[in-house]
Amino acid sequence: MMSGPVLLFDSGVGGLSVVSALRQHYPRLPMCYACDNAWLPYGLRDDVTLSKRIVAVCKAAVDACQASVLVVACNTASTLALEGLRQTLDIPVVGTVPAIKPAARSSLTRHIGLLATTATVNRPYTQALINSFASDCIVTKVAADALVTQAELWLSGVPLDEQGVQQALSPLWQATQHTPALDTVVLGCTHFPLLKPMLVSLSPKPLIWVDSGDAIARRVGQVAPNRMNATPDGRCFTTAPAAQLTIGLSRYGFQPPQLLTVSDTGR
Ligand code: DGL
Repeated sequence: MMSGPVLLFDSGVGGLSVVSALRQHYPRLPMCYACDNAWLPYGLRDDVTLSKRIVAVCKAAVDACQASVLVVACNTASTLALEGLRQTLDIPVVGTVPAIKPAARSSLTRHIGLLATTATVNRPYTQALINSFASDCIVTKVAADALVTQAELWLSGVPLDEQGVQQALSPLWQATQHTPALDTVVLGCTHFPLLKPMLVSLSPKPLIWVDSGDAIARRVGQVAPNRMNATPDGRCFTTAPAAQLTIGLSRYGFQPPQLLTVSDTGR
């Protein structure tokens, strides 16, 4: 299996932000992409059913493309299911967790924002990261599930609803007026870096925006050093028809999606 591609997995198109980070570091890395669009959004689902579902979809996708490494390009899935995935799969599994540590390093005011899904904002895993790396910071947590939908629509060619985006971000903007003022934002959902130019332009003040892309790329470089100059791949798998994503996926180098068969895990 060590000759297979690197498989990136997300609930939807968010993992494409991680694809971009990997391409910047390793332009010839062979990548496949899988998303569980039938269950999107993950951030509003209950943990027990979701963790079984994530393992089932990832296993089906790893088998379908004979992946050599799985990158869980989803904070909501990683903060819940990394252990289950590592127990089930016999390939390296690289997770994506909110970049609290680099954000705490960057913040001068010691007030950082965490922009993520409802599930990620509330996970014990996330709180443990804050306790370990940002215990001297105020952390304003903002659940912004609406931005996940906006990113999905945007990739299929629908213009952003600026008012909806502003509404989702307003708790962050308010925190920039507090004392101490928020100066750094963790993009703790992989969908959000796709919208970064818009987030930056809407921000009332210049802020430091931090995501996990570079850290994931470094980790992939460690677990798959022999895959960096292999033949590109580009296969893509979805769990529900997704013709509207074909053009967006092709911009990231992926072929039209194939339907993945996943054993029923209930809802
Ligand atoms: N892209 C996913 C993340 O990083 C979540 C999107 C969803 O709610 O499905 O958390």
